[in-house]
Amino acid sequence: MQLEVHELEVRYGRVHAVRGVSATLDRGEIVAVLGANGAGKSSLLRAVLGLARPCGGTVIFDGRDITQWPTSVRVRSGLILVPEGRRIVMTLTIHENLLMGAFHRRDHRAVAAEIGDIYERFPNLAARRHHPASVLSGGEQQMLAIGRGLIARPKVMMLDEPSLGLSPRLSNEVFALIRELNRQAGQSILLVEQNTQRALELADRAYVLELGRVAMGGPPERILAGQALQAAYLGHGRASDRRGDARTTSAT
Ligand SMILES: Nc1ncnc2c1ncn2[C@@H]1O[C@H](COP(=O)(O)OP(=O)(O)O)[C@@H](O)[C@H]1O
Ligand SMILES: [Mg+2]
Repeated sequence: MQLEVHELEVRYGRVHAVRGVSATLDRGEIVAVLGANGAGKSSLLRAVLGLARPCGGTVIFDGRDITQWPTSVRVRSGLILVPEGRRIVMTLTIHENLLMGAFHRRDHRAVAAEIGDIYERFPNLAARRHHPASVLSGGEQQMLAIGRGLIARPKVMMLDEPSLGLSPRLSNEVFALIRELNRQAGQSILLVEQNTQRALELADRAYVLELGRVAMGGPPERILAGQALQAAYLGHGRASDRRGDARTTSAT
């Protein structure tokens, strides 16, 4: 396995956000992390990157226990997060935002070539490379955020709700890009999404988080078949409490 978390625990004071989560990502896989708002998805990603300090459990990356590593070292070794809300710097140009992805790299010539590749892939970014990022649409900003992540040379790319706030058309473009990165470049991807349907179309495996715990894990078919998904997605509590409740299906 390329990335493994064992019994991970994250607390913010009295909020117990992640409760004994164990999960794996193999090289070349897309693994989706699903669940309602507040289920602990972002906290899990932040703990993997060291932005949230886990108070229990371990994170293993490429066979090494990185639980105590500083975030900067994790990033340098290839764990890259494209955060929720994209975190594009609107006052910087598109080009400058891409360069931010390269801040830990010293091979400047290779960086320039890779930024060239990104411009080839996204002509909309290329055409406005010297404009402030604020001129971009939401979908283009997400492409820029993913492009910036790619410039950091991820071994594992973690995407936190990349389709959030995008129109269905722009979401489709983002999901198509994720699929292409995985299928063509073999990029390992940990994908946090609330768009369950689309994430399960892409993913090799998925985990459903419910109140900080893994309520369900497995291939997409198994997740789709499970009642736990709807319960977690709608935030109505445990699947066993919801069986036979008509509202569970009518609300989707
Ligand atoms: N910095 C923080 N301080 C305190 N509580 C937080 C913080 N970040 C997240 N939480 C809480 O932790 C829980 C999990 O949040 P989060 O990981 O953001 O869930 P998700 O990404 O699934 O929506 C929620 O109850 C949330 O309010
Ligand atoms: Mg989140």
